Amino acid sequence: MCGIVGVLGSHEAAPILVEALKRLEYRGYDSAGIATVHDGALDRRRAVGKLVNLSDLLVHDPLRGKSGIGHTRWATHGAPTVVNAHPHRAGPVAVVHNGIIENFRDLREELAQKGFSFVTETDTETVALLAQSYVSEGLAPVDAALKTLSRLEGAFALAFLFEGEDDLIVAARKGSPLAIGHGDGEMYVGSDAIALAPLTNEITYLEEGDSAVVTRSSLLIRDEAGQEVTREAKIINIDQSMVDKGNHKHFMAKEIGEQPMVLGQAIDHYLSKDGKSVNMPGNGLDFTKINRLTMVACGTAYYACLTAKYWFEQIAGIPVEVDVASEFRYREPPITDGTVALFVSQSGETADTLAALRYCAGKADSIVSVVNVPESSIARESDLALPILAGAEIGVASTKAFTCQLTVLLMLALKAAEDRGALSADALAQHLSDLRGIPGLINQAMGAEAHIKDVAQKLSEARDILFLGRGRMFPLALEGALKLKEISYIHAEAYASGELKHGPIALIDKHVPVVVMAPHDELFDKSISNMQEVMARAGKVLLITDSAGLKEGAEGTWQTIQMPQVSPVLSPILYAVPAQLLAYYTAIAKGTDVDQPRNLAKSVTVE
Ligand code: F6R
Repeated sequence: MCGIVGVLGSHEAAPILVEALKRLEYRGYDSAGIATVHDGALDRRRAVGKLVNLSDLLVHDPLRGKSGIGHTRWATHGAPTVVNAHPHRAGPVAVVHNGIIENFRDLREELAQKGFSFVTETDTETVALLAQSYVSEGLAPVDAALKTLSRLEGAFALAFLFEGEDDLIVAARKGSPLAIGHGDGEMYVGSDAIALAPLTNEITYLEEGDSAVVTRSSLLIRDEAGQEVTREAKIINIDQSMVDKGNHKHFMAKEIGEQPMVLGQAIDHYLSKDGKSVNMPGNGLDFTKINRLTMVACGTAYYACLTAKYWFEQIAGIPVEVDVASEFRYREPPITDGTVALFVSQSGETADTLAALRYCAGKADSIVSVVNVPESSIARESDLALPILAGAEIGVASTKAFTCQLTVLLMLALKAAEDRGALSADALAQHLSDLRGIPGLINQAMGAEAHIKDVAQKLSEARDILFLGRGRMFPLALEGALKLKEISYIHAEAYASGELKHGPIALIDKHVPVVVMAPHDELFDKSISNMQEVMARAGKVLLITDSAGLKEGAEGTWQTIQMPQVSPVLSPILYAVPAQLLAYYTAIAKGTDVDQPRNLAKSVTVE
C-alpha cells in the first residue's frame, strides 16, 4: 500500500529509483513519481497510472542527479491525479509517504494560519509544508525533518529530500515498514528489502518510532524518544528468481505453479527428522494449557483461518473463534484465561491485523503469528512467529501464500492434537504422510489446467457467479469467489451449501453459474443434494470433485473439473488450485490486469 524508495548513489538516481519502484508496484499503482537533487537543485517528475507512464515521461523529460526519492501510490486522501502524486514538494523539501497522517487537518489549519497554502488534497503535503515551515524558521534540514516527525500522528513510512543537500535523506517509520540498505559508498531506503534486492542484501530494518539520518557514509538512527540507537544490519537472502516473472506471463501464474515447491519446503521445515511429528521453532506452544484459540486476519488470510477452525476443532478439540481484524479490533472482545491469539498475514504489515494483535498483547496467554515476511511488524511483535516460507508473493491476488498458510496451520493443529493426546501416534503419522503427498497431488491437479482454461472461457460470460461448499470446503468457496471477483471483476458470492435454501436460492436461474466444490468426503451426499436443488431450478452447475464424486454426481451438471483423490482433511489445500486457476483464466478471458487488478494493492498498511 504505497511503496517508497530513496537512493544516495554514485550513478544517476532516476533509473535506479524507477527499477526499485517496479519491485514495489504491487503495493499500489494509482500514480508514481520521483524527486532528485542535482547541482543542489531539487526537482521532480510525476505521472498518473502505472509506473510505465512515469518511465515514458522521464524519457522525454529526464531528471538528473545522484540522490533521490520515489513513490508508487495507492490513493487514500485525494484522487489519483498528478497534483496528488508523490513526491510532495514544499519549497526546499520533497517528501514521499506510505501510510496516513491522522492529524493532518489540525496541522493544515495551523499552517494555513501561518500563511501556507495547499495545492493538493493529500495528507502528505502537510508533512512537506510543515518541514518547509521549520526550515523557513531557520532550522537545518535534519532538525526540520525531526521536528516535523515529532508533530505527526498516524501511521507512516517517510523519506525527506532537501534542496542543496545531495548527500542526505531523512527517513522514519511508525506503523509502516522501512528498510535501509547499505551499499558500497551508496545508501538506500525502501519499503521492503525486495525493492532493494539487486542493489544490496545488507539491510537495517527501522523499528517502530525510529528516525534515520542517512548519508552515503553514515546512518544515524534515533528511537521514538530521540535517543541514538544501534540497529543491527542483516544480510537478507532474496532469491532473485522469486521476484522475477521468469517465463510466465503473470506473477500470479508463476506463483500458482510454484505451489508444489514452496509447500514441499514448508512441510519439510516443520516436519521432524523421522517424519512422524511436527517441530515448532523455539519452545513452541504448550497446547495442553490452551482453552481457546482466537484467530484474526483479513481477506484471504481470514479464509485460511476459517479453514483452520475445522482442523483445530475437529482434530485437536480446541474451541476456535475467527474474526476479521477490522471488526475484532474495535469490538473489544473479552480475552479469557488460556486464550492463544493467532494472527495470519502474508505481508505481516496489514494495519487492521497488527492493531488486533496489539489489542491482544498483554491479554492473551500468547501471541502467535503465521506470516510470510519474517521481518514484518506482526512477526516481530509475536511471542511465536511461524514462517510460511512461500517466498516473495508479488501478484496482488494471494495464491501460494494461502496454501502455505493452510499447510502451516494444519501442521500447528496436528501438533496441538498430539500435545493434547487427541490423536494417536499412528493417526498423526498418517496425516503427515498424506501431507507429504500434497505437492505431488497439486502437480497432478495442474494437469487439469488446459480444461480449466476452457471452462473459464465460458464462465467469463457470466455476470454473477455463486460458489458453494460444505464443511472445510465452505471457506474455500469463499476464497474461490474472492479470487474470481478481485481479478476478473465478475460479481461472485459464496455460501455454505446448506444455507442456499435460506435465501440465496432466489438468485438461481440459467444465467448464474454455480461452482460446487465437493470432494467425495463424508459430506458429499449433502452437497450433491444442494446441487440438485440448484439444477432443479435451471441453475448451471460447475462441479469440482474427484473421480468417485464424478461417478455419483456428474449427471446433469453443466461442467465438471476432476481433481485427484485426496485425504478429506487436506482437500482445502488441493482444491485451492482449481479455484485459483479458474479465477486466473477467467480474468485472462476478460482481458483484465491479472497482477494489478483495479483499486487493489498488496500489503494494506492503512485501515
Ligand atoms: C486477496 C488478498 C487479500 C489479503 C489481505 C490480507 O487475494 O491477497 O485479501 O489476503 O489483504 O493481507 P495479508 O495476508 O498481507 O495480511
